[in-house]
Amino acid sequence: MELRPLGSSGLLVSPICLGTMTFGTPVPEADAVRLVHESIDMGINFIDTANVYEGYDRVLGSAGGVAEEITGKAIADRRDSVVLATKVGAPLGSGPQDRGLSPLHIEREIEASLKRLGTDVIDLYIIHWPDRHTPLESTLEALDRVVRQGKARYIGVSNHSAAQLCQLLWLAEKHDWVRPVSSQIPFSFLRRAFQHDLPFCEEFSIGVTPYQSLQGGLLTGKYRRGEEPPSGSRAAEKPEWVWARDDAMFDTLEALEALAAEIDTTPVRYALAWTLAQPAMSSLVVGAKRSEQVADAVAAADLEIPCEHFARIDEIVPAPWKQDDPIR
Ligand SMILES: NC(=O)c1ccc[n+]([C@@H]2O[C@H](COP(=O)([O-])OP(=O)(O)OC[C@H]3O[C@@H](n4cnc5c(N)ncnc54)[C@H](OP(=O)(O)O)[C@@H]3O)[C@@H](O)[C@H]2O)c1
Repeated sequence: MELRPLGSSGLLVSPICLGTMTFGTPVPEADAVRLVHESIDMGINFIDTANVYEGYDRVLGSAGGVAEEITGKAIADRRDSVVLATKVGAPLGSGPQDRGLSPLHIEREIEASLKRLGTDVIDLYIIHWPDRHTPLESTLEALDRVVRQGKARYIGVSNHSAAQLCQLLWLAEKHDWVRPVSSQIPFSFLRRAFQHDLPFCEEFSIGVTPYQSLQGGLLTGKYRRGEEPPSGSRAAEKPEWVWARDDAMFDTLEALEALAAEIDTTPVRYALAWTLAQPAMSSLVVGAKRSEQVADAVAAADLEIPCEHFARIDEIVPAPWKQDDPIR
């Protein structure tokens, strides 16, 4: 796999990043540790976690920490082989300071993440979701402190629009604070709303690290019209994490699978290769559970989608600018 720049950071990352949202359940600790080691052996040098991840056991406001702890154990003897990203901001309890992007929460949570990950420094510290209760200025100042204290090397955002990123870049310049280098957004054939923002990210050297490019497994070809989800699949084990599969959805999935078949590839590789071909893409955060799934994703990094397929894909799943304009 050819490494790609992570925005303006100077770091080079593999085009596939290992997501850890299933560490704990359904991927038990020993399997998750092995998966991390096998992924590194396959050329992956980028791991994405979050203080909140605890696999399928997660409920709103539960304490999190499980995936970070497992990741910490997995990388203990190979810390220098990975660019390590974690996130802050999602609710971790019911108290008013147990969530969000206030300086207090960030200061508390960076310490907790460093401890669980067993490291002195987090390579990429990401704000998970916008927090409407905290001014962006307070959040960015706290993040600047975290970097200047040597607890994180770079900062990134997740689930932020280009307008919010623009404000952060402006504040960073105005105050001489650290600027975000990456943006983690949901992005797949089926979820293209953020496509509008990619040219902005490219222009300002923000490396995009999309998540759910397989739409939680929907784009893998494993779900078939009129059939029960296969055992061990996400739709069988955690149905609320997979979008509904009605006839209209199967029409779309089958049309995309037919295009993948035309170039003798799998739906997984086709979906990932298309995403990687979009502007500003640094690395796709893929939630692989087993090493065969990682290998499949790694193979996608070398797949080229024929030019004429892009327009045909747009006919099946329209780009946002081809969708109905609500103002018109
Ligand atoms: N920033 C955020 O707000 C945010 C939100 C969500 C996720 N994330 C990050 O993104 C990562 C990925 O999210 P995700 O797991 O929901 O989305 P995903 O990567 O689209 O889907 C992962 C699921 O797809 C299936 N899969 C993966 N590779 C496969 C293959 N080669 N063949 C068949 N099935 C395959 C597996 O499902 P089965 O269980 O069916 O095997 C796996 O659990 C997370 O781990 C996390 O790090 C970030």
